Amino acid sequence: MQRCDALARHSELPGGLTRVFLSPEGRDAGEAVLGWMREAGMQAALDAMGNAVGRYEGVRAGLPCLMLGSHLDTVRDAGKYDGMLGVISAIECVDALNKQRKKLPFAIEVVGFGDEEGVRFGTTLLGSRALAGTLAPEVLEAKDASGTSIASALREFGLNPDRLSNVKRKKSEVLAYAELHIEQGPVLEAEGLPVGVVTAINGFSRLRVALRGEAGHAGTVPMALRRDALAAAAECIGVVERVAKNVPELVGTVGRIEAKPGAINVIPGEVLFTIDVRAPVDDVRVEAVDELRSLISNIAQRRNLQLEIETLQQFRSSACAPWLMEQLERAIQAQGLPVRRLPSGAGHDGMAMKAIADIAMLFVRCKGGVSHNPAESITEEDAAIGAAVLFDFIHEFKPLSA
Ligand code: GLV
Ligand code: MN
Ligand code: MN
Repeated sequence: MQRCDALARHSELPGGLTRVFLSPEGRDAGEAVLGWMREAGMQAALDAMGNAVGRYEGVRAGLPCLMLGSHLDTVRDAGKYDGMLGVISAIECVDALNKQRKKLPFAIEVVGFGDEEGVRFGTTLLGSRALAGTLAPEVLEAKDASGTSIASALREFGLNPDRLSNVKRKKSEVLAYAELHIEQGPVLEAEGLPVGVVTAINGFSRLRVALRGEAGHAGTVPMALRRDALAAAAECIGVVERVAKNVPELVGTVGRIEAKPGAINVIPGEVLFTIDVRAPVDDVRVEAVDELRSLISNIAQRRNLQLEIETLQQFRSSACAPWLMEQLERAIQAQGLPVRRLPSGAGHDGMAMKAIADIAMLFVRCKGGVSHNPAESITEEDAAIGAAVLFDFIHEFKPLSA
């Protein structure tokens, strides 16, 4: 808990927590984590994508690893457990093994991914996609709000984007990927349970919509003659909410909007906004996105606006591996606790890691299900139970082939 507090002090916001990919605060958080990894007996360094990676050898050097981790970046005005708790808990487990001088028949690697939230460059899971080898080189041309590309930001950070292929792991090197994370939902709390086992991570689609009309004088242009891009966007946001409400388990969010030129006495000529759509069933999500495209296009036509809809990113839903879920469940039962399985509505690094390894996730109860919010909170008891379950899972871990 103290380490979560310590990481939360590495923030671009005084009095709050915002830490985006390849920022000075991100460097400080990464350095702190590398230090804790070394204290826990790991070899630790940043990789070429800015992930903090620690390795604890098994009974012999060079064995394939059980990979544990989560992310070190945050959303804007974030809580201090989303991501960080998983990295810190994994380091604690290795520290406990190290203090017992215990080596396992496999290596353990702990990764603090540099980017999961995708806040800076609008595209998510950059750290885990690089490690899984699924990050297309052209993604490095994505730019942040000030026009800096990922490739330039990596160089400015002192990393070499040409070395990205070195970050990629082979399937044969990773026995499984397991992540502890706060639930970010209300289920465990409602049922009085400290931990749960994730069955699958919901898929998502992220879109960027541009509406272009005509800027004009707010006092002189009659209402019937306006091509107001913001009034149109308001209608579109209503449509996103209506479509999502009408389909069970579908969620849709407009989280960002920018209106230009942005003055009280000017009709907005151009609006950019984002749409985030998620569902447990991929076909449901894809159909909803098609429906949104067509409804938004009708609004643009009726209002005589130009429309562009860009798909920023999409990910299929990612099932956790039954053999790993069973091992996590045994670790939960070993603590005398009942097992609760539940899906994840939030995205996680496991979605990307699935390209090279089977994945598992352990959820820890959080207060009120609140996350992506500074009010995010967990109890010390639950953090300890989560870490104890993770430790037992690691200690008893049997690879699929064994
Ligand atoms: C990450 O937290 C996401 O689900 O957007
Ligand atoms: Mn998050
Ligand atoms: Mn997270």
